[in-house]
Parts: sequence; C-alpha cells; structure tokens
Amino acid sequence: MDAIEVIRAKRDGGELTTAQIDWVIDAYTRGDVADEQMSALAMAILLNGMNRREIADWTQAMIRSGERMDWSALDRPTADKHSTGGVGDKITLPLAPLVAACGAYVPQLSGRGLGHTGGTLDKLESIPGWRASLSTDEMLNVLRSAGAVVCAAGTGLAPADKKLYALRDVTGTVESIPLIASSIMSKKIAEGTGSLVLDVKVGSGAFMKTTETARELAETMVALGTDAGVRTVALMTAMDRPLGRAVGHALEVEESVEVLAGGGPADVVELTVRLAREMLEAAGISGKDPAKALADGSAMDVWRRMVSAQGGDPDALLPRAAETMTVEVPSSGVLTRLDAYAVGLAAWRLGAGRARKEDPVSFGAGVTLHAKPGDLVRAGQPLMTLHADETARFERALEALEGGYAVGVASEEQLPLVIDRIT
Ligand code: URA
Repeated sequence: MDAIEVIRAKRDGGELTTAQIDWVIDAYTRGDVADEQMSALAMAILLNGMNRREIADWTQAMIRSGERMDWSALDRPTADKHSTGGVGDKITLPLAPLVAACGAYVPQLSGRGLGHTGGTLDKLESIPGWRASLSTDEMLNVLRSAGAVVCAAGTGLAPADKKLYALRDVTGTVESIPLIASSIMSKKIAEGTGSLVLDVKVGSGAFMKTTETARELAETMVALGTDAGVRTVALMTAMDRPLGRAVGHALEVEESVEVLAGGGPADVVELTVRLAREMLEAAGISGKDPAKALADGSAMDVWRRMVSAQGGDPDALLPRAAETMTVEVPSSGVLTRLDAYAVGLAAWRLGAGRARKEDPVSFGAGVTLHAKPGDLVRAGQPLMTLHADETARFERALEALEGGYAVGVASEEQLPLVIDRIT
C-alpha cells in the first residue's frame, strides 16, 4: 500500500477501506507517511467527508497507535466529561470534584487553550504549585486519595492524534466533523473511562457555529463512544455568549471556587449541576444530589484534596494582572447582545491566550463581565473590566470588542443554555 493511493481514493470521493485506514494511521505514526502526504489526505477528508464506518475505523486506528489506560482495578465507576470548548468554560473545575463527591472516580485528561478558547490546564496552572503532568501511577494515587484528577494526557496516549492535530492546526483542516469527532473520541476511549458526557458547544464562541453542525458532531461522537462500549451522552449547550462572568485563567479559577462554595453565576451553577446529573446517570450512580454536594461543602473538600494532591495550594492568592481598564455601558436600556467570540478574542489579546503551542499565557489576564444579555443597564455603568499585564494590550482588546455588544429596548433571542440532549 502507499500513501498516494490512499490520498487519491479520498480525493476522488471514494470510501477508504479498513485496511487503508489502518495502514495510513500506522505508517504516519511511525513516520513512513510524510506530513505533506497526511495534510493532503486530511484536506481530502475535510472536503469529501467520511461515512460512519470510516470514522469508526479511523478512531480505532488512532487508539491503537498508543497505550490504553485501564481503571478496572478501582472500586467505583469512572465518569468523564469533555467540552468542545468555549469562552468562560470553566465547568470542569467545579464539575470534576462535584461528581467525585457524589461517588464516581473522575479521571479527566484535559488540554491547553489555543486561539480564543481557554484550556483547563492553563486555568489550573494559575494555582501556585499545581502540576498538570502526572505519570499513570500518580494519576491513580490522586484518584484514590481525592476522587478526581485533572491532568495532561501523556505522550503515549493516541500519539497519531497528537501528530495529526498539530498538523491540522497549521493546514486549515481542523474544521472537519469526521476529524474532530475521531480526534476527541480516540483520546477519550484510550483514556479508559467507563462513561462519558460530551458538552458540545454551539454559537459564535464555539467550533460549531450552528445547531445543525453541532448536532452532527454530537451524534457522531455518541455513536463512536457507544460502539466502543463507553456509555456516552451529549448535551448541546449555548456558546453565543460567554459562560459566567469571568474569562481568563485565574479569574475563572476564582469563579469556580465561588461555585464550589455554593455561590457563583446562575448559568455556571446550572450547567455544572446538569452535567453532574448526566455523568452520575451515565456512571450508573443513583440517589445522589449534586446541588446538595455543592451546598454542603463536600465538593469543595474534594477540590481542596485534588489541588493539594497535584502540588497546588488551594489557599494561595491567585495571580492578578497589573493593569485594569473599565469598559462602560454606552447607553441605557437592555444589554441585548454580548458576543462570546468577541469577548474570547479580547481575553486572548489581553494575554490570556496563545498564538502558538509553546507561547506562555498571562494567568491574571482576561475579562470580568458586570452585565449579561437580558440585564437592564444604565449609560456609564461598568460593562466589563479588562485585565492585562501591560496597558499597551487594551487597545487591541477594545478593537476585538467593537460590535461585540449592543444595548437596545428588548433582548435579542438567545440560545437556551441546554439546547438538546443526544443519546
Ligand atoms: N479538540 C480535539 O481534541 N480535537 C479536535 O480536532 C478538535 C478539538
């Protein structure tokens, strides 16, 4: 078999055989298929698509490219959640300890942010001392002692995806449902969780801008998980406006701790509790009330144990940006729109995001929102606070926000927080 034959088959709109897929993924992982050949194939897949059988074969081949984790020695069910990413999406931080407090083990492999969406590991790294890289033994120890662990995937997990994702990132081939679904699910299945809840975001701040494409992605991922023996369910949730009131690493950790202390913004609390219920159901745990575990402090106890077990100090002061700037409401009325992408881009330009994988992030940078769509506002009151390490960053952040919010007489229609549930 050779790479050109496989590329031509997909370029001409054909269906790849299982043998072709197994061969190309294996040869690419070993370096026998060159990056330029794989990027041509990725582009052909983006343009011509793949059917469900091809996507399943592609996913399985990427899983087989590396190790599979196994939590069967644990005495409680495992549950995981994956979000396709958004602006202000800090849900993993309160959710993982909450679900652990309700009786599941939560082994959560997470990623870093790229572009305008934030990554869970970057957020947690704003806690002094906290470590994202753990060996499998360390992961197991944290799981056993705290109930939940959030860390980076080791290099041995789905290495084909690691190579391919980096390649897609620089060849305009990220936005392909077969490639996104297989990328996410190969890592989640290889991670060895017994059950998985997917949070598929929809709107300007998400990968999927429309409910139709989000539904297709959700259905594809649920089918992949179910076929691999992982109890999988997906919620499609709103990302047309930011989630919560904090966007930026340390700012989002603070907001998550508020949620764990029984407070926090209503949308973050609602989505955290809803996803926790879904995770417990998928893990086969009944009779536990996540809202109660937030109110009685048991989720906070797990958070503190989890942070400490990974070297972090849960009582440490979090980094603050040196400079702030207030953006005022331009006129009185109802805040009709606050665009997730505009706020995410502003936070990125303030220093919270990175343009390349190796770039550092500013832990204190970001945006605090003082009003959300639907709120009554008065001209001159603070709409948001921008946080950055240098004042020079404010101008470009303000440009990102231009046209990103509006005040009118009645709210524009917003997506419901939970749009649909896919099983
Ligand atoms: N996240 C992933 O892990 N892979 C993709 O392709 C897109 C988002």
